[in-house]
Amino acid sequence: FPPARARLNDVALFGHCARRRRHSSHKGSHGSVAVIGGAPGMAGAPILAARTALASGAGRVYACFIGEAPAFDAAQPELMCRSAQGYDFSSAVLVIGPGMGSAAASAALLGSALGSESPAVLDADALNLLAAGAALRAQLAQRGAPCILTPHPLEAARLLGISAAQVQADRPAAARALAQQLAATVILKGSGTLIAARDGAIVVNTTGNPALATAGTGDVLSGLCGSLLAQGWPEWEAALAGVWLHGMAADVLVTEGAGPIGIGASELIPAIRTAINRL
Ligand code: APR
Ligand code: MG
Repeated sequence: FPPARARLNDVALFGHCARRRRHSSHKGSHGSVAVIGGAPGMAGAPILAARTALASGAGRVYACFIGEAPAFDAAQPELMCRSAQGYDFSSAVLVIGPGMGSAAASAALLGSALGSESPAVLDADALNLLAAGAALRAQLAQRGAPCILTPHPLEAARLLGISAAQVQADRPAAARALAQQLAATVILKGSGTLIAARDGAIVVNTTGNPALATAGTGDVLSGLCGSLLAQGWPEWEAALAGVWLHGMAADVLVTEGAGPIGIGASELIPAIRTAINRL
């Protein structure tokens, strides 16, 4: 690894991006995020991502569902719930994929969303749809807007057409190959998460622990990265800081005695808020 970027334990690497809020700022100053996912039976995934986007500072957050949207999120009424069908994808940073499913309607929505010029975080089923669709991959590679992909090893394997064991055998090679092929910053998740840039730069994250090995923590990460993009962080710094803060939140919870056993993804969200306010 290039020495200057080899370790992510120095907040100074990206602390310059965490500007104090101007006294005169308003919600429009802090960006909008739209999470697109939530096929029937999987509504929790976009809710987790959307709640994280709010708690990490985005000014406005929409949760857009495949199929019928709930009227609102009773535990977080600040979220705006919408149907993804007919949503204007040009007006927010997009977090696409949590609980999206792989039906034809989801593939069509992914195509529409990629047709916008909005910065995007692609996670979960958006990555599986990309793996299954050469046209979608071509569309992605042609985009100019900032883009972060957040595959776990199996999602990376599907995108590369190899096995998850092969991904794990050389994680840096897999992360770099995806970043170059899909023209995006790639977060290859798992213990020792890697962040790879299009130019071959690669970083290993030093925060995080097995408390994160539970359902929904990936959705939280995608919402966090989208929120940082919406607040004006560059793609690379948003990916680095998103991964670092996500892991730091889990580390703090464990230090406080709440884990590693039994931490729920929802509990990471207030811990991320605390961590980001300390940057
Ligand atoms: N140490 C550190 N971090 C870990 C560890 C560990 N031992 N285990 C997991 N993590 C972190 C990962 O790095 C990642 O940030 O927890 C997160 C898990 O993300 P996902 O694997 O995407 O899990 P999840 O949120 O449950 O995914 C939801 O999306 O990707 C699909 O198939 C997945 O249906 C599932 C859904
Ligand atoms: Mg996931």
